[in-house]
Amino acid sequence: MSKKAWGGRFSEQLEDWVDEFNASIHFDEQLIEYDIQGSIAHATMLREQHIISSEDCDAIINGLNEILQDYQKGDIEWEVSLEDIHLNIEHQLIERIGDAGGRLHTGRSRNDQIATDMHLYAKTEVKHIIELIEILQKSIVAIAEEHVDTIMPGYTHLQRAQPISFAHHILTYAWMLERDKSRFEDSLKRIDVSPLGAAALSGTTYPIDRERTRDLLGFEDVYHNSIDAVSDRDYIVESLNNISLTMVHLSRLAEEIIFWSSTEAGFITLSDAFSTGSSIMPQKKNPDMAELIRGKVGRTSGHLMSMLMTLKGLPLAYNKDMQEDKEGLFDSIHTLKGSLRIFEGMLNTMTVNTEHLKKQVRKDFSNATELADYLVAKNIPFRTAHEIVGKLVLWCTHQNLYLLDVPLEKYQSAHPAIESDIYDYLQPDNCVRRRTSLGATGQDAVKKQLKAIKALIY
Ligand code: ARG
Repeated sequence: MSKKAWGGRFSEQLEDWVDEFNASIHFDEQLIEYDIQGSIAHATMLREQHIISSEDCDAIINGLNEILQDYQKGDIEWEVSLEDIHLNIEHQLIERIGDAGGRLHTGRSRNDQIATDMHLYAKTEVKHIIELIEILQKSIVAIAEEHVDTIMPGYTHLQRAQPISFAHHILTYAWMLERDKSRFEDSLKRIDVSPLGAAALSGTTYPIDRERTRDLLGFEDVYHNSIDAVSDRDYIVESLNNISLTMVHLSRLAEEIIFWSSTEAGFITLSDAFSTGSSIMPQKKNPDMAELIRGKVGRTSGHLMSMLMTLKGLPLAYNKDMQEDKEGLFDSIHTLKGSLRIFEGMLNTMTVNTEHLKKQVRKDFSNATELADYLVAKNIPFRTAHEIVGKLVLWCTHQNLYLLDVPLEKYQSAHPAIESDIYDYLQPDNCVRRRTSLGATGQDAVKKQLKAIKALIY
């Protein structure tokens, strides 16, 4: 067991199982690159401020780079008794370069160190997420461009409502993702802030230069309150929230994919490469990827709740509770990135069953609103029209017919204003085409919409 960095005032040692409970090295080792980046910036600044010598600074920087290389080669074994990535690296450094290694922590605490690591980590990952969102948006837009003229049933209450363009439906998700992207972009303002130099909580007596480390690490801003710098986890809550909401959006599309690929709907066919089979039922082809994404929302929403609860009532400044900020964030980021990639692959390879959809929209009452609108155009009040059409639909359900099958005599007995042009008027394709208002599902309006979204993502 290695001697602890804080062992000086202790006369008894922690038992192994207590060390195990206390340690975060199992998960915070993934911060190694950020930790070393932060330490190199700190050491550089210490030298520039004449707090450490040039020789010590060089030894520290070389030592840290070697540790990173050895880690990447798999040559380093962390010690649980050394608790976390910070103390493990420091221990390695002192073993390698002696006293100089012991000078690195001057004017710094693990409290501002971990905050720096997490800010650097969150910034990199959020930028990566933004890129992945944009890639998925591009796939959605490409599908939409192919299917402006593909007509599908639009639903409310999961009951057939009105026919819509497939492009229009799928583009809804591109807009949701656009809002997600803008939330992540906005959050960068608050992530891109340097806590380094806040030390334990109160700043330091050494003549450090926080603006210099901010600059070296590429942060936009610094925390102006040292207590806030080490206590703030808002950016983690915010990231977890943005991830949760994006996952909720993906889960809605996942649910549609699951429904659309069912035998009952048959609107799309998923590629074999994104489906799985059954160990007992030879005929099965299951949309497991979409189901998994729908399911994973449980954990991303859970991580958000758990971070909020960890922070509730937490006094200033650093408390060990805050070590609990990591696993949830790591897992949520991993989950979202995986889901975005899978979705892109799944959408790019699915087939939209255009012909089947054409038949489907013929077999429902989605054009009932159109018939009412037809009557309104002939000066019949909408309420009266609604009543007339409702009765016709009821009649049809008894006769096992749809509105396009109703004989002209029946129409004329329902209302003499209905003429033979009604059959053309009620074609689902025409119902969609007439919707020309801004943001509507009509083919012309959808083309304008495509232009608008493309301007945002290209
Ligand atoms: N492993 C700790 C964490 O993740 C690092 C900060 C520890 N600071 C301290 N004073 N114990 O939060």
